[in-house]
Amino acid sequence: MGEKMRKVVVFSGAGLSADSGVPTFRDSNGLWENHSVEDVATHESWYEHNKQDLMLRFYEERYNQYKNCKPHAGHEALVKLEEQFDVTHVTQNIDSLLEDAGCKDVRHVHGRIGMKKCEWHKNITTLDGDGMFKCDYKVETLKPVESGEKCPYCDGKLRPDVCWFNECVHIDFEEMKEWVREVKYEEGVFICTGTSAQVYPAGYLLSFFSQVKEKYIIDLKPQPVADYVLLEGRASDLLPALVENLLK
Ligand code: APR
Repeated sequence: MGEKMRKVVVFSGAGLSADSGVPTFRDSNGLWENHSVEDVATHESWYEHNKQDLMLRFYEERYNQYKNCKPHAGHEALVKLEEQFDVTHVTQNIDSLLEDAGCKDVRHVHGRIGMKKCEWHKNITTLDGDGMFKCDYKVETLKPVESGEKCPYCDGKLRPDVCWFNECVHIDFEEMKEWVREVKYEEGVFICTGTSAQVYPAGYLLSFFSQVKEKYIIDLKPQPVADYVLLEGRASDLLPALVENLLK
């Protein structure tokens, strides 16, 4: 039997996709510049305030923007890391650049723009446990969701499979605890790249992994957190350098 590979958890955000041409959220000229978040990306906008057409138009724009983006050297380095490490990605990005590069285990905590689902899908967890959300319909889509598309199972409207504000993120915290344990006690590595870590609960990952010995933050403007090693610069430059070091 082969030796067990050391685990690497990579936590990423918009800055990882930035070098592929996807604008980040909170920098100037960021994604939300012309639209307020409340209008285009909150649960209530869709379900209570009837902003569905505006939201679908907004995500159509995102879909078309991502469509032509290609992975960069940083994504490719992360694929190379899999030669010697057991790598799991926890990404806040809704694009598929990590998968396009060839990364095998990618968890999208804020969903994926390449999927569409019923507005009553059971992964839309509301804190009041509303029983309305119980449909199963979710499929890959080759074009943006259009207004008026209906769920073939329950006749609900279709929406992109992205996690909006005030919806619970797609994180299995029990599984996460296992990864933290493995990275902490079995010489693993935690890498955080291209996220301001301002959106919770995903932002808590930096604290969860803070007791790990080998941990890095790669960012254009890295903010000090615990005793993380801060690497300042572009993900497309610094990830290949870090991966080369780890593979030695
Ligand atoms: N290389 C590395 N880091 C970069 C680069 C780059 N080329 N370009 C920008 N950054 C950094 C910025 O300095 C910033 O710290 O990436 C981070 C991007 O932060 P945000 O724009 O806040 O994006 P993110 O953390 O992914 O946002 C989280 O918020 O709006 C919601 O759901 C949306 O998933 C998103 C979440």
